[in-house]
Amino acid sequence: MQKYEMALMPKAKIVEASEHEDLDTFYEIEKECFTIDAYSKRLLRFLLTSQSTICLKAVLQGQIIGFTIGDLRRFSGSWKSEVVTIDVLPRFRRMGIATLLLETLEKKFQTQGCSNTTIHVRVGNKAAINLFHKLGYQEKKKVSDYYADEIDAFLMEINYGV
Ligand SMILES: CC(C)(COP(=O)(O)OP(=O)(O)OC[C@H]1O[C@@H](n2cnc3c(N)ncnc32)[C@H](O)[C@@H]1OP(=O)(O)O)[C@@H](O)C(=O)NCCC(=O)NCCS
Repeated sequence: MQKYEMALMPKAKIVEASEHEDLDTFYEIEKECFTIDAYSKRLLRFLLTSQSTICLKAVLQGQIIGFTIGDLRRFSGSWKSEVVTIDVLPRFRRMGIATLLLETLEKKFQTQGCSNTTIHVRVGNKAAINLFHKLGYQEKKKVSDYYADEIDAFLMEINYGV
């Protein structure tokens, strides 16, 4: 899409998601976004109903075009937050949708008192690594055989400086 066309596009709205309304669509998007290691519908249902998760969807003209799920837990007196997944439908990529979803999620983490957020990313996932670099995340360490197909992950982290 040309830059001038993007400027004319309406802006996606970021809205809290629910199992009842969004499970089926999230599962369809997940299968389109991940050819290997896509989350099962059962796992997505668990994440959408868990007390510790924040689930956000990006909606453009009534259509869900992407989503993110974050996890927020208290460990040893401080809040720990993690991006569990971020998915944007292929035809809506490079329009800032993932950035908008993640910035909204990070604001919610920070409101809860988190000082940092982590994400595991496949070492070969250039698009995701670039996305998280652009948002200010850095590689903290490489985790061997993190994924079921024995591919390594980078554990990436952002510190909010609080
Ligand atoms: C990774 C993903 C979420 C990015 O979504 P997106 O909405 O296209 O991301 P944005 O438009 O917000 O892009 C922000 C920046 O990320 C980087 N980026 C995004 N896609 C990229 C690509 N294909 N190649 C290189 N860099 C890319 C760029 O730096 C981009 O900024 P720019 O467009 O100004 O150059 C999307 O490609 C996706 O859903 N991939 C499949 C699922 C996945 O791998 N999720 C991550 C798991 S950790």
